[in-house]
Amino acid sequence: MGGEITSAAGGPLVAWPPLASPGRGGLTRPAPKPAGQLAAGLMRGKTVIVTGANSGLGRATAAELLRRGARVILACRDRGRAEEAAAALRREGRGAEGSSSGLDLASLRSVRAFCQEVLQEEPRLDVLINNAGVFQCPYTKTEDGFEMQFGVNHLGHFLLTNLLLDRLKDSAPSRIVVVSSKLYKYGEINFEDLNSEVKYNKSFCYSQSKLANILFARELARRLEGTNVTVNVLHPGIVRTNLGRHINIPLLAKPLFNLVSWAFFKTPVEGAQTSVYLASSAEVEGVSGKYFGDCKEEELLPKAMDDSVARKLWDISEVMVGLLK
Ligand SMILES: NC(=O)c1ccc[n+]([C@@H]2O[C@H](COP(=O)([O-])OP(=O)(O)OC[C@H]3O[C@@H](n4cnc5c(N)ncnc54)[C@H](OP(=O)(O)O)[C@@H]3O)[C@@H](O)[C@H]2O)c1
Repeated sequence: MGGEITSAAGGPLVAWPPLASPGRGGLTRPAPKPAGQLAAGLMRGKTVIVTGANSGLGRATAAELLRRGARVILACRDRGRAEEAAAALRREGRGAEGSSSGLDLASLRSVRAFCQEVLQEEPRLDVLINNAGVFQCPYTKTEDGFEMQFGVNHLGHFLLTNLLLDRLKDSAPSRIVVVSSKLYKYGEINFEDLNSEVKYNKSFCYSQSKLANILFARELARRLEGTNVTVNVLHPGIVRTNLGRHINIPLLAKPLFNLVSWAFFKTPVEGAQTSVYLASSAEVEGVSGKYFGDCKEEELLPKAMDDSVARKLWDISEVMVGLLK
């Protein structure tokens, strides 16, 4: 028996089907650990929130956790797309009903409303997966005037996590999983121009936001010591998803790109394995503040382990999202 999809406002809505096939691709990669090797009921009784659960890695992560028996709240920005994802999960779940919750990480108002709903409706929260992300978009600002990639990938999740922290603590042992990227290596935290108003470089800003994810997890792990709430961060590898929607590939190069991505990129199910592992495996019980790839701990560059930068980023983020006036 599988898990349930639910909305923050509603009760259990859907039973989950068997695991989707991992699909093709990855000719040179090791086969992913088949999800079925982990106990199917491992997450029974656990409530999980996955941000960006209507697409790519988030959707695959939600599906895998549902399969393990979790109740999964699909936290998605667009209700229409969220309903489509929920409906697809329902169909695979043989006709059960489902819904999802509105969460636009580009709006602090939306983040606050979502958290209020969760806190009202959900007596416990066992796992929060900060997965949603935007990649190399043209220069735009969030509702609150933040550069979009920094605003969504870091600040929106920063507020979300902080507002849900007491519920996670009350539900301990509980876990926070943060999806970053290896591209953090090309970023710095540009404290002088966090909203890139002086200069915008879309690649740098993505890397900056992914470095911010790692520094956030590091500082949060320090703050959560002794609470039995863990936080770990991961990179999923290169995965065939909708993340590249803002990248223009010339028409003539598209067939080659498709071939390469088919051959070498991970499928979403493969890419989701580290998120699922950190959310559910007994192997990482009590492990906190670490960086993972392919379900194994990995080394970070010194810039991602700089505690003074992590603290400074935390302090500034608190002010930016209005947690500290
Ligand atoms: N794919 C890769 O190769 C790769 C590599 C490294 C790291 N990552 C990371 O993996 C995570 C998931 O990305 P993906 O590859 O699965 O890409 P994806 O298929 O584009 O999924 C991204 C998800 O984030 C959501 N999102 C975007 N802006 C949002 C907002 N303002 N509020 C709420 N949700 C928002 C999207 O919602 P909509 O569908 O409504 O836009 C979508 O559900 C991201 O954090 C990304 O940085 C991916």
